[in-house]
Amino acid sequence: MNKIVTLDEFIIRTQKEKPDSSGSFTRLLRDIGIAAKIVNREVNKAGLVNILGVEGSTNSTGDDVQKLDVFANEKFIETLSFSGEVCGIASEENQEFIPVASDHGHNAQYVVVMDPLDGSSNIDVNVSVGTIFGIFRRKSSVEGPCIQEDFLQKGTELIAAGYVLYGTSTLLVYSTGDGVNGFTLDPSIGEFCLSHRNIQMPVSGNYYSVNQGYYLKFDLEMRRYIDHCSDLNYRLRYIGSMVSDIHRIMFQGGIFLYPNTRKYPKGKLRLLYECYPMAYIVEQAGGTALTCKLDRIMDMEIASLHQTSSIVMGSKDMVKDMKEFVEKYGAVIQ
Ligand code: AHG
Ligand code: MN
Ligand code: MN
Repeated sequence: MNKIVTLDEFIIRTQKEKPDSSGSFTRLLRDIGIAAKIVNREVNKAGLVNILGVEGSTNSTGDDVQKLDVFANEKFIETLSFSGEVCGIASEENQEFIPVASDHGHNAQYVVVMDPLDGSSNIDVNVSVGTIFGIFRRKSSVEGPCIQEDFLQKGTELIAAGYVLYGTSTLLVYSTGDGVNGFTLDPSIGEFCLSHRNIQMPVSGNYYSVNQGYYLKFDLEMRRYIDHCSDLNYRLRYIGSMVSDIHRIMFQGGIFLYPNTRKYPKGKLRLLYECYPMAYIVEQAGGTALTCKLDRIMDMEIASLHQTSSIVMGSKDMVKDMKEFVEKYGAVIQ
């Protein structure tokens, strides 16, 4: 029988191998695992305890906030605040970043950016949702409180990122910059167990994932590329939760697109806590992540917490194909 490797054990083991590893980073990763378990428990019983439904408020980017978004947000903030390793948190659900009080975040070196519940329109209908997170080392002095610049760092500055998928089973996938590993929650022992070691995204595949309902609102080059996917009989899969859509591509290969539309001329997905962390994971797994103007997502400049971007990411060869369409049709006057 193979020995089970739990997330905690894996984190401790791999961090020990790093010469500059600090115990505090190890503890922070472990705390994210704990928060994920708490959120998972609520996601699983959402149908039973009337926690479902739109709460009635709107979040910073104008979407309806559902109760479970609020719950997930609170749990992650609570857990991370008490961890003592985090000096601030930026979340989709909060207009401003949240500084952690100095008694808990004293001398803390890290900030966390997160989308506590991704794909929240799926909650009411029992379809997969996720959590996305990224970790930066703070720029400001550890003596004082965190500042906006601690959060407005480019994707290339991330020191770790990951996602949790609350699906048919619950999976936590993360990277600290040396490959991607996945852990499946075993509910019988309440532990995330290493189930997917060194995940490598296939260089090509036959899935494409885009909200094709917006087809007519996309730029010409995107429409031509989508026509191409359809011509090649690629299979269209769109769950409406980026975490779930990307997760499929991580294993089966494919391409995910959320281009700019007339409604969202700069794209809809948020750079800091959706695009950067997912791009980090995709690149670590051997894939590519670009904007629809072909800039590397990880290199994009960021000026505000909730800044949005267009995004195309997935299997290397498929993104390369897409690039040719942008180069060919991008300059055509429409
Ligand atoms: P969130 O639930 O955190 O607001 O994110 C939803 C995002 C993303 O996960 C998904 O790919 C996309 O919005 C779906 O948007 P459309 O409904 O416009 O396709
Ligand atoms: Mn989201
Ligand atoms: Mn969300």
